[in-house]
Amino acid sequence: MEIDRVVGGVRHPWATSDEILEAMNTFEVRQDDIWVITFPKAGTTWMSEVISCLYHGGDFDKADEIVLNQRFMFLDLARPGADPPHILAAKRPSPRFLKTHLPSHQMAKEINTKKPKIVYVGRNAKDNAVSLFHFHQSLKALRSYDSWEDYYNAFIDGDVHGGSWFDMNLYWWNRRNDDNVLFVKYEDMKKDLGSVVTQVSEFFGWPIPDGKLEEIVQHCSFSSMKENPKTNYKVLSTKSVSSNSSFQFMRKGEVGDWKNYFTVSQSEAVDKLYDTKMKGSDLTFEYEL
Ligand code: A3P
Repeated sequence: MEIDRVVGGVRHPWATSDEILEAMNTFEVRQDDIWVITFPKAGTTWMSEVISCLYHGGDFDKADEIVLNQRFMFLDLARPGADPPHILAAKRPSPRFLKTHLPSHQMAKEINTKKPKIVYVGRNAKDNAVSLFHFHQSLKALRSYDSWEDYYNAFIDGDVHGGSWFDMNLYWWNRRNDDNVLFVKYEDMKKDLGSVVTQVSEFFGWPIPDGKLEEIVQHCSFSSMKENPKTNYKVLSTKSVSSNSSFQFMRKGEVGDWKNYFTVSQSEAVDKLYDTKMKGSDLTFEYEL
């Protein structure tokens, strides 16, 4: 069996089954759902932890009561032996915490009519690509690439999970002024997490208790999330025993790691493609801080 396949022009892992993709046409969205939408490896987990902490008013025991990848239901992933996520999600009490990487044309249709609150996190294409490349090379459920170059070529062709990085980021950037959408950049979280936490709290209308902002920022720092078993998942199946021992979901958490992978000509090609694909848009990303 192949490890992934293309459906509707987008490469999906087998775990994103045809059943899941079809179910998104009729999936019942609730107005009080809380959605985190991202291109894979753009900062989903980070934003989800920020939202958990804010929802619980900075009570970290409550926020981290269960492991993050169960707290936020991942709508794209069927787990062997379990009901598919859309069935499980239908049984969850409100407010539901949901996450997805599905591209706009395969997204749950009802998000456009029910208008739940959606936080979209965008990350610069180069770091995003490097992070997803590592994920592929480490996880059993994802295909391995022969080399970075091999993966890079697929990424710029939009032939990776999530589809085209350019299309997805442009789509959500164009919706950034919708009342129910907050567009956040990973690089802004790195630069000033406190401001982003404040922005997210205002978006949801969840005030931050006095003195808690600094604690939330500290709790959601890379080092703290790396030490936290509820956020640095150990439950993912990795490719080999040796990578199993070294695999860290919290890998580097940096802006600029792309420089260790991209050749000059690959970097220039992404810049050129960006100019073409994002023409007319004022969306920009930072590639170093
Ligand atoms: P790297 O592979 O570059 O380290 P997602 O949650 O969407 O899968 O994204 C994972 C990426 O976000 C990983 O990037 C991970 O290290 C990074 N990340 C997670 N929490 C972070 C934090 N608190 N600070 C900075 N980066 C974080």
